[in-house]
Amino acid sequence: MRLLVTGGAGFIGSNFVHFLLEHTDVRVAVLDKLTYAASREALEGLPCDRVELVVGDVTDVELVDRLVGRLTDDGDAVVHFAAESHNDNSLRDPSPFVHTNIVGTFTLLEAVRRHGVRLHHVSTDEVYGDLELDDPERFTESTAYAPSSPYSASKAGADHLVRAWVRSFGVRATLSNCSNNYGPWQHVEKFIPRQITNLLDGGRVRLYGSGANVRDWIHVDDHSSAVWTILNHGRVGETYLVGADGEKANLEVVRLILELMDRNPDDFDHVTDRPGHDLRYAIDPTKLRTELGWEPRFTSFEEGLVRTIDWYAAHRDWWGPKKAAVEAGYAAKGQ
Ligand code: NAD
Ligand code: DAU
Repeated sequence: MRLLVTGGAGFIGSNFVHFLLEHTDVRVAVLDKLTYAASREALEGLPCDRVELVVGDVTDVELVDRLVGRLTDDGDAVVHFAAESHNDNSLRDPSPFVHTNIVGTFTLLEAVRRHGVRLHHVSTDEVYGDLELDDPERFTESTAYAPSSPYSASKAGADHLVRAWVRSFGVRATLSNCSNNYGPWQHVEKFIPRQITNLLDGGRVRLYGSGANVRDWIHVDDHSSAVWTILNHGRVGETYLVGADGEKANLEVVRLILELMDRNPDDFDHVTDRPGHDLRYAIDPTKLRTELGWEPRFTSFEEGLVRTIDWYAAHRDWWGPKKAAVEAGYAAKGQ
C-alpha cells in the first residue's frame, strides 16, 4: 500500500508518518510546503525506501495531479493533513487559511476524482462551533456546522467540499473531525507547548481570559491510530468524530503543567482573551468506538503530559530558535 500524506512534516502529519513506520508496512510520500509550522527534523533519519519528502504546495494543480497519479485506485490513498492550523494566526491574517484549507482541499479533490484514488480528509471538531459549559450533549456526527473563527470556517468549507465531491462525483472519501491534540513536535505557538517552553525558558505561563474554556484533549498517537482505523475500516462517505473523553478547563491544564514542572500552581498570568474565543469543545466518539472498534491508548492525560514535558525538555534545539518570534507576536497583542 502507498499513501500520499499531505502536511506530513507538521505536528500531526509527522506523528502519523512515524505511526505508519512503526505499525504498518506502507510506503509514504509526504507533500508539504514546509511553512513555518513544519519540521523537516521530524522526518529526519526515516528509511528512504519507506518515506519520500516532496516539498510543494497542495494548491499546485500539476504537482498534486502528478503525485496522486502515481497511486493506484485499488488500495492506495491520500491522507490530507495539510492546513494552516492556528486560530490566533487566522485572526491576524485569514488569507492563507482560505487559500490552503479551501483551495488546497479543492485541488486534491479534483486530483482524486480524476484518478479514482481514495481520500481521507482530516478535520477538526471546531467546525461545530462551541458548547455551553453545562450542556449535557457533546458533538456528534449529526451536530450542525457553526464555525466561529476564520480557521474553523475554512476547515468547515473544506469539509463541505469533500462531502459534495462524494455525493456529486462518487469520490471515495472519508472524513474525521478530531479534538485538541497534544504530544511531540507540536509548534510552540499552541497552548500546551507554549506553556511548557515558557517555563523551560524561565518565562511565565499565559492563560487567556479566566481559563474557563474547555478543550477535549487527545494524545496525537491516538489520533494517528484513529485515522489508520478509518482508512482501513471506515465506510466511504462517512464522517467519524475522534476524541478520547479528555475534557479539561484551560485553568486546570495550566495548574497541572505548573505542578508537574515543580512550580507553584497559582503562579501564572491571565492575559488578553482571544476574540470570539470558543467556550467548550467535547466529542462523543461512540460511532468510531462501536462501529470500528477503535480505543485510545493514552487514557491518562497526566501521564501523556509528563511524557510531553520530558520531550520538550529534551528537544530545546528544535523549539528554541522558534520561540522568540512567537512570543514577540503574542506580546504585541498583550498575550
Ligand atoms: P500544523 O500546523 O502543525 O501542520 C500543518 C502542516 O501543513 C505543516 O507541515 C505545513 O508546512 C503544511 N502546509 C501548510 N500549508 C500547506 C500548503 N499550502 N501545501 C502543503 N503543505 C502545507 O498542523 P497540525 O496541528 O499538525 O494539524 C494537521 C491537520 O489536522 C490540519 O488539517 C488540522 O486542521 C487538523 N486538526 C488539528 C488538530 C490539532 O489539535 N492540532 C485537531 C483536529 C484536527
Ligand atoms: O479542537 C481542535 C483544534 O485544536 C484544532 O483544529 C486546531 O488546529 C488546534 O490549534 C486547536 O485549536 P485551539 O484554538 O483549541 O488550540 P490552542 O492551542 O491555540 O488553544 C487551546 C486553548 O488554550 C484555547 O482555549 C486558547 C487557550 N490558550 C492558548 C494559548 C496559545 C491560552 O489560554 N493561552 C495561550 O497562550
